Amino acid sequence: MNIVVISGGPRKNGRTGIVARMMERTYGFHTLDLSVMEMPLYNGEESQAKEPVIQSLRKAVLEADGVILLSPEYHSAMSGALKNALDFLGSTQFLHKPVALLAVAGGGKGGINCLNNMRTVMRGVYANAIPKQLVLDPDRFDYDIDGLTKEAAEQVHLLVEELKMYARIGNEIKQEQLS
Ligand SMILES: Cc1cc2nc3c(=O)[nH]c(=O)nc-3n(C[C@H](O)[C@H](O)[C@H](O)COP(=O)(O)O)c2cc1C
Repeated sequence: MNIVVISGGPRKNGRTGIVARMMERTYGFHTLDLSVMEMPLYNGEESQAKEPVIQSLRKAVLEADGVILLSPEYHSAMSGALKNALDFLGSTQFLHKPVALLAVAGGGKGGINCLNNMRTVMRGVYANAIPKQLVLDPDRFDYDIDGLTKEAAEQVHLLVEELKMYARIGNEIKQEQLS
């Protein structure tokens, strides 16, 4: 199953990257890491569609069976880096696609607004944002292993399992439509 993680933290050594690397190691998911991809700022010009970074972003999301949006909460929303990347995408890539939402927060009871913001935008591109979602505060990380605490890793696992369930259902429906 092809699950793609869009890691929306612009900071190279941030906690968002730790979650992305943990999921890569544990599940073999492909990460689109916005801290290294050097995405241009969306300007609506057709010429941007020819840029290799945009083509690879669009192809990866289009071909994915499911997507995980991973973002730090910035001022009660997703990061600007993630929103900018999503502006290059739309229902062409996301229609009916199962999407899991995961926010990395500062530990002051934040995160939920980032999740709600991502959920609203996913509705805008006709994706299927799944019901389960997760906030990871700084105390959910085990920095010595570049990963998460056991309990947080279990929560991530439940999120991944639910995403895979919806991706399987989506794939079955696609097969039925083809037959
Ligand atoms: C500009 C800015 C705004 C932030 N706003 C919030 C916020 O609204 N709620 C929250 O819980 N944390 C907020 N934080 C804290 C970050 O979400 C937290 O530090 C997170 O770990 C950042 O991701 P990173 O470690 O991948 O860089 C903010 C941080 C920055 C830099």
